Amino acid sequence: MDNQTLIENIKRLKKEKNAIILGHYYQIDEIQQLSDYIGDSLALAEQSRKVDCDIIVFCGVHFMAETAKILNPSKKVLLPDMSAGCSLADSCPADAFAKFKANYPDHIVISYINCSAEIKALSDLICTSGNAEKLVRALPEDQKIIFAPDRNLGGYINRVTGRNMVLWNGACEVHDALVPETIDRYRQQYPEAKVIAHPECNDAVLQKADYVGSTKGMLTYVKNTDVKQFIVATETGIVYQMRNENPDKQFIIVNNDSKCSCNDCKHMKLNTLEKLYSCLNTEQPEILMDSELIEKAKAPIVKMLEMSKSLNLI
Ligand code: 13P
Ligand code: SF4
Repeated sequence: MDNQTLIENIKRLKKEKNAIILGHYYQIDEIQQLSDYIGDSLALAEQSRKVDCDIIVFCGVHFMAETAKILNPSKKVLLPDMSAGCSLADSCPADAFAKFKANYPDHIVISYINCSAEIKALSDLICTSGNAEKLVRALPEDQKIIFAPDRNLGGYINRVTGRNMVLWNGACEVHDALVPETIDRYRQQYPEAKVIAHPECNDAVLQKADYVGSTKGMLTYVKNTDVKQFIVATETGIVYQMRNENPDKQFIIVNNDSKCSCNDCKHMKLNTLEKLYSCLNTEQPEILMDSELIEKAKAPIVKMLEMSKSLNLI
């Protein structure tokens, strides 16, 4: 089937099956265009709790679809490619994390949403890159905290808040690979541009950024400034929305190596139009979860959504 026929069939099946497509900003352009709702992890979690439909097709990675199932277990949740994982979630196995946590009995656990349901079940509060700093600031100053699984996001929050959270040593293979020398090279080439970076980048890169924020945070930042040129240190997919919303501005994606597509998250890019069509057609692959695990993993996510609401973040 050619792309146009696939797109028509996806639209038809969506209607026939009362399905909603939720898409992350890192999806390929065609999937972003077909999504009923596009967002960052925080907005997508909130949407998946609210949507009124029979089927949620989650165009993102496994932990995101799993979060949708946890928040809305009566819906059928589909992920176009079940092997769309996340290096950051994989860097924190539940058995090893449980042993780590046992060393800090007087600490609470805040986990970044990029983790498995088993890690969520071991956590007191979930956060996303869009709310992590504000949630941590909202906790009492003497509260001892373990932060998992991203050492870069956790380290960034420690730096900006002055906290001393204990960090699990995990990282995202896409963001952590960026190096400060590359940022310097781009700055020389585009001296007028502002550098914007996702907090999953390592500290040496973040120290060079004019703005650090989640995908949604970066979109808001570029929209609300008169600056016309941006050096973007994150995954490539975000540039589609940036260009759509700001046709008069220029976005230059930071890449360590001009010959590779190193900033494409290979997991996010596993979802294709063909797989989206096939999953709507066959209603497979489906996220299936144990109800006890759903209940345990749900509490810290709901806590995050409630705190985010009271802080006016959603
Ligand atoms: P956001 O929370 O900004 O959507 O980030 C998700 C992600 O996987 C970044 O790598
Ligand atoms: Fe995971 Fe990194 Fe891909 Fe985000 S970009 S889904 S953190 S591997």
